Amino acid sequence: MKLRKLLFLSLLGILFSCTTSQNNTDSEMNVFVDKLMSQMTLQEKIGQLNLITPGGGIPTGSVVSTDVESKIKSGQVGGIFGVYGPEKTRQAQKLAVDESRLGIPMLFGSDVIHGYKTTFPLPIGLSCSWDMELIEKTAQVAATEATADGIFWNFSPMVDISRDARWGRISEGAGEDPYLGSHIAKAMVKGYQQDDLSRPNTMMATVKHFALYGASEAGRDYNSVDMSRLRMFNDYFPPYKAAVDAGVGSVMSSFNDVEGVPASANQWLLTDVLRERWGFDGFVVSDYTSVNEMIAHGLGDLQAVSALALKAGLDMDMVGEGFLTTLEKSLEEGKVSEHDINKACRRILEAKYKLGLFDDPYRYFDDARPGKDILNAGHRKVAREAAARSMVLLKNDRQVLPLKKSGTVALVGPLADSRNNMLGTWAPTGDPKYAVTVLEGFKNTAGNTVNILYTKGANISDDPEFAEKINVFGPKIEIDERSPETMLHEAILLAKKADVVVAVVGEASEMTGESSSRSDISLPENQKKLLRVLAKTGNPLVIVNMSGRPMTLGEENELADALLQVWHAGVETGNALADVIFGDYNPSGKLTATFPRNVGQIPIYYAIRNTGRPQEGEQFTKFKSNYLDVPNSPLFPFGYGLSYTSFEYKNLQLDKPVFSTGESLLVSVEVTNTGSFDGEEVVQLYVRDEVASITRPLRELKGFKKVFLKKRETQKVTFTLHSEELAFYHPNLDFYAEPGEFTVFAGGDSNAALSAKFTLK
Ligand code: BGC
Repeated sequence: MKLRKLLFLSLLGILFSCTTSQNNTDSEMNVFVDKLMSQMTLQEKIGQLNLITPGGGIPTGSVVSTDVESKIKSGQVGGIFGVYGPEKTRQAQKLAVDESRLGIPMLFGSDVIHGYKTTFPLPIGLSCSWDMELIEKTAQVAATEATADGIFWNFSPMVDISRDARWGRISEGAGEDPYLGSHIAKAMVKGYQQDDLSRPNTMMATVKHFALYGASEAGRDYNSVDMSRLRMFNDYFPPYKAAVDAGVGSVMSSFNDVEGVPASANQWLLTDVLRERWGFDGFVVSDYTSVNEMIAHGLGDLQAVSALALKAGLDMDMVGEGFLTTLEKSLEEGKVSEHDINKACRRILEAKYKLGLFDDPYRYFDDARPGKDILNAGHRKVAREAAARSMVLLKNDRQVLPLKKSGTVALVGPLADSRNNMLGTWAPTGDPKYAVTVLEGFKNTAGNTVNILYTKGANISDDPEFAEKINVFGPKIEIDERSPETMLHEAILLAKKADVVVAVVGEASEMTGESSSRSDISLPENQKKLLRVLAKTGNPLVIVNMSGRPMTLGEENELADALLQVWHAGVETGNALADVIFGDYNPSGKLTATFPRNVGQIPIYYAIRNTGRPQEGEQFTKFKSNYLDVPNSPLFPFGYGLSYTSFEYKNLQLDKPVFSTGESLLVSVEVTNTGSFDGEEVVQLYVRDEVASITRPLRELKGFKKVFLKKRETQKVTFTLHSEELAFYHPNLDFYAEPGEFTVFAGGDSNAALSAKFTLK
């Protein structure tokens, strides 16, 4: 072993002989990092700030790293992503540990957005479960699988609030609401990190994209963001803050600018808010080449933008190598200080320390683990449950659903047997070959007793140019050799032979996600045609919509007897959908993003503030705040979702009419299952601040509980409302509640009618 290596290991030996890897205190970590940094050259410190990818995953920009091996050996790499499996990750780590001067181990990262190999529903789908235990569980499974494959740093959770379904990445988040989004952010960080980063089956989480990426103007990806600080703090920041409060290890800056400064060089965001206000003590990584992209934003050349980013509080530069190639020069020219570089380097070394890498740099590379820990039966079971629980029943006239397990079902539609589209966008570590299609799921569940007929009926789109844009990561839209007319004709014939028609339509997986914004969020016209001819047959029509975003489904809602929103539900899609359609699971999902009537209503969300001229009812009234051509209300509101049974709410009660700041109020409501199935209901609590010093939302979610009720069972559901939950940010960004009158609403969606009043003293 080389001398330098021996020196480093002996240093480690001294330090670790007096500590245990789990219970190292901050001061022990500081001593360790101080010692290590005292041995590092300037170049080695800058090297730690460099994150590279050899391009093994999905490169999401036009650049991938070059000379990877020699850079690692010369200490120019702090972390790497896009390398998978214990063998390859070990090999790469060996280059850093055995061949670089100080042997500092690298971070191994990846985008594990909705499961690793066991792909769960898209995050927006999972959020519709409103089930925090389940969401935490999926993150925990993802961590187990990723770490078994050598990945211990995750670029998730994505918690960007979005109220604009044109934005393709709405699929990666938890929808429109800051309260629900905060709970989900916390559950995911907990699931990934399990409060102990050094365990071999936990991984460091990254909350992203800081900040406000989901508010890109016009829903166009990477676009500018401009909003009041009041809105940032009240509506968009809470989930990021919740992740920080939950101890998230790293934060990723976003591509967009905020108040004219790109997030990756925005000192107010990265230092004033994140560190000084919220007390974040991990490290900040840029998004993919987002430092370099500030050249296009017009902030200067690579040296200038890299210096700006470092000084603003960005610690690690993803792929662009602006830090690696320019910081030394900037230091010489006094544009950054040694202190700036040391600060960033220290934060990265601290993360490595917390992950236990200095204890054992190979702790995550165990050849025995992938075989037992990845895609095992237990994990698939979680995926099936998660998928079923993410589906939202939007309409069910005459109780068409659940289907009986007898008779003949015509299964039609471009997504009914489309393995390549089941996982959904941003599943780079998943493999479609493990996905269960709807046709397979139906056969597995009901194939013995139900005559299942299948035909495609239509392409996802008939437009080859559009298909080419969607098929960048492999075939998602496959245009059939048969003509559209022939396919329609086959579908009609098949539908006529059946007792019921199930049409599976929607978006190909890459019609949402990064760089997949749409200005029209309806179904492609050829799919609409299919639904029209199917409806004409007169047979009951169940429309199943797969998508990564809310869509405009007005016509489909008219045509369908039952309408089910299933998102892209992951590796167990087909089985889970069969569970729901044939009644083995009674759907309980509730929308977490509003479904507009048309694209012109966007941005649309339930927590609106009143205007001085609010619309009353749905009718157009001159000189009121409304549209000439569409009501203000959405097609389906936030929180909405049906069950095969029905729920009735009554007796909303408060334990006192008046309470004081610092105290809590108990709010209870009786919920009865009045239908003929056992089922779950997400009981929701909304609050309205009647009079305040600034305009406030008409209602805001302040509590939710998912309860299971047997047929005819009644449960009293109680919420504790702390006065703190009535607080909001004021124009000077102070956070407090204003005394006065409030109204509380309880029910099964954001239009909950049952209400009561209370006063905060
Ligand atoms: C995305 C990030 C992602 C990164 C690395 C970027 O294009 O915006 O969400 O983590 O690529 O893959």
